[in-house]
Amino acid sequence: MRALVRETSLSASDLILPVFVTHEAGAAHEIRSMPGIRQWGADRVAEAVADAVSRGIRAVIVFGIPRSKDSEGTAAWDDEGVAQEGIRALRAAFPELVIIADTCMCEYTDHGHCGILDVDNVVDNEETLERLRRIAVSQANAGADIIAPSGMIDGMVGTIREALDQNALSDIAIMAYSTKYASAFYGPFRDAAQGAPAFGDRRTHQMDPANGREALRENALDITEGADFLMIKPALAYLDIVAQTRNQFPQVPLVAYNVSGEYAMVKAAATQGWVDGRAVTLELLTGMKRAGADLIISYHSDEVAKWLSDVGADPSGVAP
Ligand code: PBG
Repeated sequence: MRALVRETSLSASDLILPVFVTHEAGAAHEIRSMPGIRQWGADRVAEAVADAVSRGIRAVIVFGIPRSKDSEGTAAWDDEGVAQEGIRALRAAFPELVIIADTCMCEYTDHGHCGILDVDNVVDNEETLERLRRIAVSQANAGADIIAPSGMIDGMVGTIREALDQNALSDIAIMAYSTKYASAFYGPFRDAAQGAPAFGDRRTHQMDPANGREALRENALDITEGADFLMIKPALAYLDIVAQTRNQFPQVPLVAYNVSGEYAMVKAAATQGWVDGRAVTLELLTGMKRAGADLIISYHSDEVAKWLSDVGADPSGVAP
């Protein structure tokens, strides 16, 4: 009866699998702070996601780790660049897979910031927007279905929408990282994507964790600019924002990003035997859905898809 009256269910089709693509052919480098997650050579990404796809994962989000970085992040809009190569390989192997491209500059700039810096070493909003246009068009031409600008650059959604439309890419959707906090939970990702800022931080453009009302304003701006999806990131410490955003825009698909530090904490505690990793993971992801997320970007996606397809697994995803 408990299952009969259960309000929230979790399934593989709710989950978006992150994929790190590196320029090194054949690579499958483990990421120390994210056990179970690897940087894959572009020639191996299809193999890397095949199992997840066969278990019902419908979407991936691609991050690139380029061969070389420079102050402008030029490798980001190279049509032969690493993300583009990974996207092409996934598109060729899985015609029906929804491919989301993370659109940012921090993995491509030698200073690790999410844009072009001005003379005072502050991200120059207008110069950065001009680069984001090129990156989005290049990623869409490589085969991405959805562009996901993650830099919290003011005007990024409207500018990218315009660039896509001008380049006969009007059917490409935009998943805005609409509410992205300046969070300490991104630490392991910055190892994984090698995109830590060389100096300073991202507080000039990412949100103050203490602010909730401002998140609603960020969401509204992105909707006005043409966002097709909203996203709250990180998830765990921000479930109130997920719930408020759900109420603010009941019609818009809402994504929660279960970020690298959240993943690393569960893995660390589970490895010690201090928590039941599987039960805790399912409880966390179910909580994100209960709060109002339609979709969850999670490093747990692959293993959760496996657990849910185990014979006898509770399809609700909730541990017994
Ligand atoms: C920026 C980007 C970041 C993450 C996703 N896209 C890092 C940052 O803003 O510093 C973090 C994701 C995670 O921690 O899992 N391209």
